Amino acid sequence: MRKIIYSICFLFAVSFLIAGSCGKGGGSPAPNPCSGITVSVSGSTTNPSAPGATNGSISVTASGGSGFTYSLNGGASQASGNFTGLGAGSFTITAKNSNGCSGTASFTLTAPNPCAGVTITVTGSTGNPTTGGGNNGSINVTATGGTGPFTYSRDGVNFQSAGLFTNLTAGPYTITAKDANGCTGSTNFNLTDPCTGVTINVTAVTTNPTSAGATNGSINASASGGTGPFQYRLGTGTFQAGGTFSSLGAGTYSVTARDANGCTGTANFTLSDPNPCAGVVINHNSTVTGHIPCSAAGTGSIVANPTGGTGPYTYSLNGGGFQPSGIFNNLTAGNYNLVVRDVNTCNTAASINIPNRPQGPLFTAVKALIQANCVTCHSASNANGGMNFEVDCNIVNNRDRIQIRAVNANPSSMPPTGLLPPSERQKIVDWINAGGKYTD
Ligand code: HEC
Repeated sequence: MRKIIYSICFLFAVSFLIAGSCGKGGGSPAPNPCSGITVSVSGSTTNPSAPGATNGSISVTASGGSGFTYSLNGGASQASGNFTGLGAGSFTITAKNSNGCSGTASFTLTAPNPCAGVTITVTGSTGNPTTGGGNNGSINVTATGGTGPFTYSRDGVNFQSAGLFTNLTAGPYTITAKDANGCTGSTNFNLTDPCTGVTINVTAVTTNPTSAGATNGSINASASGGTGPFQYRLGTGTFQAGGTFSSLGAGTYSVTARDANGCTGTANFTLSDPNPCAGVVINHNSTVTGHIPCSAAGTGSIVANPTGGTGPYTYSLNGGGFQPSGIFNNLTAGNYNLVVRDVNTCNTAASINIPNRPQGPLFTAVKALIQANCVTCHSASNANGGMNFEVDCNIVNNRDRIQIRAVNANPSSMPPTGLLPPSERQKIVDWINAGGKYTD
């Protein structure tokens, strides 16, 4: 009943804080009995003695009034400040005095760490994979220390009750054991591949095909290193017991040898067709015709008539395309590079000189008479009528004019002083009748 009154007075006190007081039955609000009162709660704790145990306790006393009652986490009030039977956790204790003024304090009870001082040791044995790259390795462990039963894990996440791990490839593993209290210990293991550090060498005796395109070559391979017996395969074929592969044409072949542990080694071998040009000698046997000097176009030629090798032949002059004809015409004087190729692409190259053909006797005679009778008025420095007869080809290329002037005297004779004797003029006629070339 008092409590209710105080509560009402408290409301009044708040509502009419400035207005006045709250007296006992005086019609005005009673003063707040908790005003200026601080209820303090203090105490001591006893932690649970083991993880999960509920033998912890909290013992409190309060100050700031009298007639205290105590409640744990807002539970039922009790006269005693002792709370027992507590597990680990956080607790709030409220103390309330006889005037209803209250105070609180928080306490934390902590269970002992079950793993403190506990060392879990993982020991075991390993079985390496028995083949190169194989996955039949195993690790078999047991754990000691801590509190059984243990569970075991390869990844620290998924635990199993057995300590045996199978179907393992080579590599490092960390095995963790966990005891009944969740305490863990781990050990590293390493599984090694039986081929690590093993080198398989493959050698072979090869036999080349006996002719171009033939498939009678063979490879006779043998292996060393590793652990026999070996098996062999060609390329990506299937493994066979022997290292002999036959019926092979020219080409490069890879041979892989595999030992009893599945360790492999590979080597490449090349079979070559015999060189179709070995021992083949091709002679071009060219007939060369020289160039006629003073001709407007080339008049030389090369006519190849090869022997040796296997026809038909093709021909290339000065790096041009190969052509079926071995005849090259219209060539000026100089050096030419002729390549003759047979059906097996066996080549022979030759440097061929096309000479200028020699001066002919009729021209020689005409040239001599012109030197004697004409050059005084027909030289480089005195080229009357535009004629310089010191240059041989000027004689050749103006032969018609020479005949007209020096033989026919049309319209006037050359030399201007009178025609040459008939025998000299006949030399000009004979040369022109023969063709009038440098070589005539
Ligand atoms: C003394 C000087 C002299 C001598 C020597 C001489 N010529 Fe001439 N020649 C001339 C003169 C000047 C002309 C230019 C006038 C003319 O065309 O008549 C000429 C012009 C020519 C011409 C160019 C005109 C044409 O008709 O095409 C020819 C060709 C020629 N002479 C040939 C000869 C021959 C060949 C000889 C020697 C056998 C010769 N001359 C000796 C003085 C000479």
